[in-house]
Amino acid sequence: MGKERPFDLGLTFADVLLAPGYSDVIPNDTNIDSKFSRNINLFLPIVSSPMDTVTEDEMAIAVALQGGLGIIHKNLSIEDQATQVRKVKRFESVLIPDPITVVASVTIREVEELMKYHNISGVPVVDNKGQLKGIITKSDLIFEDDKNKKVKEVMTVRGKLITGKKGVSIEQVKELFRKHKFEKLPLVNKNDKLVGLITLRDILKRKEFPRANIDKEGRLYCGAAVGISDDTPERARELLSAGVDCLVVDTAHAHTKKVFDITKMLRKICDRDLVVGNIVTGEAAKDLLKFNVDAVKVGVGPGSICTTRVISGIGVPQLTAIRNVAEAVKGKVPIIADGGITFSGDITKALAGGADSVMIGGLLAGSDEAPGDSILLEGRRFKVYRGMGSVDAMEAGSKDRYFQTGKLVPEGVVSRVPYKGPVSEVLFQLEGGLRSGMGYVGACSLQELKKKAKFIQVTNAGLTESHPHDIKIIKEPPNYEIIN
Ligand code: XMP
Repeated sequence: MGKERPFDLGLTFADVLLAPGYSDVIPNDTNIDSKFSRNINLFLPIVSSPMDTVTEDEMAIAVALQGGLGIIHKNLSIEDQATQVRKVKRFESVLIPDPITVVASVTIREVEELMKYHNISGVPVVDNKGQLKGIITKSDLIFEDDKNKKVKEVMTVRGKLITGKKGVSIEQVKELFRKHKFEKLPLVNKNDKLVGLITLRDILKRKEFPRANIDKEGRLYCGAAVGISDDTPERARELLSAGVDCLVVDTAHAHTKKVFDITKMLRKICDRDLVVGNIVTGEAAKDLLKFNVDAVKVGVGPGSICTTRVISGIGVPQLTAIRNVAEAVKGKVPIIADGGITFSGDITKALAGGADSVMIGGLLAGSDEAPGDSILLEGRRFKVYRGMGSVDAMEAGSKDRYFQTGKLVPEGVVSRVPYKGPVSEVLFQLEGGLRSGMGYVGACSLQELKKKAKFIQVTNAGLTESHPHDIKIIKEPPNYEIIN
């Protein structure tokens, strides 16, 4: 027998701590701006996972409003996924360039259904050439009991409408709203054709969320997942035409010919950012960079609902995986650390270890904005959180993430997580933990955090010492939960 090669050591978040350093940094003054991908910034380096119990339009809106980003999952028909992207893109735009409109001959019933579906309170009325004829709002409908009445009978007509031209400043719009006490300003061109709409609601929303992650036109950023199935080209095209800002090729193993082929095809049709994952080795990262991807996503098996490592024997502990990829990527594109975030301190460790953002499933799945209702069990509220490799999720569409067809071999479980209320509260605690960590290290930015980070490997005794010990918690804080 020759000399055996030693085993590589793989470490994850709980295996290490960051040493505190000299600091004059106040946590609240830290700058946590980062990048999700080449062209998408983050004001909060947190991204919600493309999972069917985590990110649909509501979650994507809520996370982007706090400065992060949501990736809409793909266990949806192409049409439904694209509709959700449209909803996110419409949500916070101060200027809606292509507002939903109706013609004057539709009934009140039809227009009410439309408003309910899109969660809007008014619709410009146009003729078949797109010329503005009036506007119909909820207040026009309050006392209308005859739902068969036509819109033209109750709308505010063009002659009574205040309108603006494209390019009008937000300040001018605010002044108009203040002076004339109305809520929707249609924009028209010189031929009186409708070219946009600005609403008071959107202006107020912007004030309420100063860190909202918005594109140049003031619309929230939104990502969407695609897989490696036959419908991927069509799905990608629909998502792009719905206005998605980035496509995320979401697979359990991206260092494969199949994913490379899909990436090559998508690179040709995708004029937005293209993100590919998941990988865990430097070799995979270097190979993916050859396809001019705009970010890479890291993680095989760290997810809380994941059984990949135990059922296949495959994986790399997440902090080592992040390091492997960071050393190979050398800052050429941002790195997303996907999975395994259990406490806010893990975010500090992931970013210090080389990631630019973290993708989170389990910690967000209990919040109001995650799909599904909460369930009551033995006096406590929970929400369902399932792996995309669970039998249930794979049957709903995510087989291709695991390269499976026919009878399924699951790589994830169906679970429950404690109900958490609004996701903004969860994000607040996660962000607070990250800022606190940066304060201890003495890092006022994430770049500095990476430079100054000194990791210390801990033993099991060290880990026990890190958690509350030798006591019984009688009041749970909002950022430390015992799950059972
Ligand atoms: P957390 O730890 O935040 O992880 O709950 C979320 C991430 O886990 C991945 N994911 C899975 N991995 N089997 C897996 O091996 C699964 O069923 C599964 N579902 C999700 C995914 O990367 C997600 O963002």
